[in-house]
Amino acid sequence: KHIAVAMGGYSSEFDISLQSGKIVCENLDRNKYHVHAVQITKQGWFYLPENGDRKTIDRSNFSFENNGEKIVPDAIFNTIHGTPGEDGYMAAYWELLGIPQTSAGFYQAALSFNKRDCLSVLKHFGIHCANSYYINKGTDYDLEAIVLSTGLPCFVKPNRAGSSFGISKVNDMEDLQPAIEKAFTEDTEVLIETALVGTEVSVGTYRKDGEIIVLPVTEIVSENDFFDYEAKYLGKSQEITPARISDEETQTVQLEAKKVYHLLNMTGVSRSEFIIQDGVPYFLETNTTPGLSSESIVPKMVKETGMSLSEFFGILVDEALV
Ligand code: DAL
Ligand code: MG
Repeated sequence: KHIAVAMGGYSSEFDISLQSGKIVCENLDRNKYHVHAVQITKQGWFYLPENGDRKTIDRSNFSFENNGEKIVPDAIFNTIHGTPGEDGYMAAYWELLGIPQTSAGFYQAALSFNKRDCLSVLKHFGIHCANSYYINKGTDYDLEAIVLSTGLPCFVKPNRAGSSFGISKVNDMEDLQPAIEKAFTEDTEVLIETALVGTEVSVGTYRKDGEIIVLPVTEIVSENDFFDYEAKYLGKSQEITPARISDEETQTVQLEAKKVYHLLNMTGVSRSEFIIQDGVPYFLETNTTPGLSSESIVPKMVKETGMSLSEFFGILVDEALV
């Protein structure tokens, strides 16, 4: 089977995605799959042969030429973070072409990538979430009203982004406006949320033979004010797997992650973030193409189970191929 590993994307997470894609290419079992790296970039869509120049992908069927042979991939391993890989655009395109892919379906991805909409749906079905306030570019907003709703400290986030780009923690009223402006550099929509106090944990979930499986829980301890970009990728944090929480809390948050995966009708691996405050897990967000780089959390969770990355990525591909 020909598997195209899609990486890159149009967002600030481009470089992280290349790292995720690299790990997937290195670990997919070459005895089982022909592995092809492809890049979706603002400059174009390319196939990157292992020893050769990049070649333009034919967008009418996502095919590319390899040693004179035209290849239409049997499945896509999607490692694009942010738009257009994590927000449903590529999923819809591949779906129309009839090429299966490893991550969430287009609607599930689009819904999950929109923090406001994802929180609204999950809240309706009983998942605990922080209070939030939504604004969009070009519409007046009132700083007092925001703080009245979320309190201080609060988090200011681009509504649709990842890897903490554009996120600030705001402790003082005077920092709110600049934080909103910063978030607007990543997205035209901004979400402001009450800052919860507790233990931050991350939970990976995936399907095998259709069944939802939950990975071990990872605790995130940031040296910075929160789990920002520097903490995530430049070593300014500790990610502890399994999390140093009670067995009961572990079970509660794993069950909650499973519920979220089910409610959002996910496929493939996704990673949900929670803050456990007074024993209650509050859902922050879910990532439908979570980072798979050497610094990322899902590979650490997988290793903790004793499974190899090769085996894990194989499960995701085979699940997509069914
Ligand atoms: N958005 C980053 C890649 C993550 O969730 O791991
Ligand atoms: Mg994220």
